[in-house]
Amino acid sequence: MPWDPERYEQFKTERYQPFENLMGLVNVRDGLSVIDLGCGTGELTSRLADALPGSDVLGVDSSLEMLTAARKLEREGLRFERRGIEDVTGHWDLIFSNAAIHWVEGHDSLIGRLFSLLRPEGQLVVQTPSNFGHDSHTIIDEVAASEPFREGLDGYVTNWNVLSIDAYAALLYAHGGTDITCFEKVYPHVLPDADALADWMSGTALVPYMERLPEALREPFMERYRERLRGRFPAKPVFFGFRRTLFAATRPAEPEAGS
Ligand SMILES: C[S@@+](CC[C@H](N)C(=O)[O-])C[C@H]1O[C@@H](n2cnc3c(N)ncnc32)[C@H](O)[C@@H]1O
Repeated sequence: MPWDPERYEQFKTERYQPFENLMGLVNVRDGLSVIDLGCGTGELTSRLADALPGSDVLGVDSSLEMLTAARKLEREGLRFERRGIEDVTGHWDLIFSNAAIHWVEGHDSLIGRLFSLLRPEGQLVVQTPSNFGHDSHTIIDEVAASEPFREGLDGYVTNWNVLSIDAYAALLYAHGGTDITCFEKVYPHVLPDADALADWMSGTALVPYMERLPEALREPFMERYRERLRGRFPAKPVFFGFRRTLFAATRPAEPEAGS
């Protein structure tokens, strides 16, 4: 079961706030060359393009299903391509990414590589979930470690690749970043019940498990996950505090010749 644009969009209202906060970190200038890493359905890439008039915006994603949805939004100054975040090349005024780089390993090297693709005065602006210690995630790990799922998954457990805010700040500085901003924020969501939380996870963190499990074990996995979530969050509604990390830094302008 790959990424499903409709399932993902089910919680799109809840996803707007971090995107708006991330947009608030962008240094808006005219005519930027922009790449959005892990653009998903393209809806937020389109909003990004709206906010940057005269810019050329490219959204990239590794999921064909997400790209099929995104391509319906193509217009002058906005296009989409299938590409892995780890394979991005080129030179950019703005490298933007909302809720995607946690799927990529090795942030120590990734951040440096992305920073090296920035033009002078270019900006790296990223939001990544950092809530992997939340019960919604640890219960996934527990279910994945229990039989028959452990065997069905061949022992697979997702390794989330998110560093601390201090580590991102230090990395950005080490790569010559200026105007460094780096913070974590908890986004409060109130969901009707524990099953709604399971639905949210099924659109994101559960995707790699559903991809790997034999079809006959997918619904039993979801059922055990729902059961455990209901046990952990018996009250209705359910408060879901979603911790996210946002960071941005600018590559300095090149010194003028002779200076
Ligand atoms: C949670 S969605 C975020 C989508 C969009 N940025 C948004 O905020 O709505 C994560 C996206 O990252 C994509 N993704 C995951 N790993 C990737 C990789 N290594 N390279 C490119 N895209 C990736 C997924 O296909 C998915 O569309």
